[in-house]
Amino acid sequence: MALQRNVIQVGDALTLIDEVDDESIDLIVCDGPYGVTQNEWDRIADIQTYNLELIRKFSSKLKDGGALYLFGKPNCIDFIDYRPYLNLKRKIVWYQPSRLAQGRINYTNNYDIICYFIKGDRPSCYNLDSIRVSQLVELEHRLRCERVPSVTNGKYGKTKFNGKGKNPGDVWGDIKQLTYKSKELVCRDALNTIQKPEKLIERLVLASSNPGDLVLDPFAGVGTCPVVCQQHGRNFVAFEINPEFVNLANARLEKQVKQLPLVV
Ligand SMILES: C[S@@+](CC[C@H](N)C(=O)[O-])C[C@H]1O[C@@H](n2cnc3c(N)ncnc32)[C@H](O)[C@@H]1O
Repeated sequence: MALQRNVIQVGDALTLIDEVDDESIDLIVCDGPYGVTQNEWDRIADIQTYNLELIRKFSSKLKDGGALYLFGKPNCIDFIDYRPYLNLKRKIVWYQPSRLAQGRINYTNNYDIICYFIKGDRPSCYNLDSIRVSQLVELEHRLRCERVPSVTNGKYGKTKFNGKGKNPGDVWGDIKQLTYKSKELVCRDALNTIQKPEKLIERLVLASSNPGDLVLDPFAGVGTCPVVCQQHGRNFVAFEINPEFVNLANARLEKQVKQLPLVV
């Protein structure tokens, strides 16, 4: 691959992707256009067709069993046939109850979706123990596990209480969108439409990659995914079209490198 690892390349992801070797990537975190804002880069006439093209191009870069997470609005993959390329395992709802309820003639949309695809039938990793979340009311949950029949075969006592926590499930309300007060926010302009919380990206990276793996972030924004990769010993290939965002992302990476413990 001509592209350097662990450096954010300035440019168009749809062109730069051609420089990535086929079947070389373990995980893709694709947080690109949603097709809903007035941002120049987000003015996509038909987001579903755009996403199908991303899926087609990016899937060839994934190793067998690799994962692709695609961010978007609830309709972002409606009426397109992604099945020749990838296997949709789950649509994760990222629920944001605090989003301003601006709807007047319809229900306000207060979630994004994150489509979890894999290449092939089985994921090469799903590190559940790295992403468990605590039980809300531990004792109550323990009792429920013992008294509730299994959904699949009706037997009792099959659902074991795990003291390390539970699977986060597919509705994530525990990770809040950043606010202007968030310590990790790099600049006000990155609020809402750009910067994602590190905790959100961290859950994807920890679940679907291992240390030393190669993660592709084609729409790096202000660098949340590269920052998370650096924290957790993953390599990354990243693209971003806006050089100002790349500068902000590089500053984040440099600051973090100074703070991370030295590995000898
Ligand atoms: C939703 S933001 C990603 C934010 C990122 N996850 C973060 O936390 O900072 C989408 C980004 O994609 C960039 N972008 C849009 N179209 C692009 C393209 N064709 N190639 C590269 N970057 C692009 C935008 O400039 C924007 O920063």
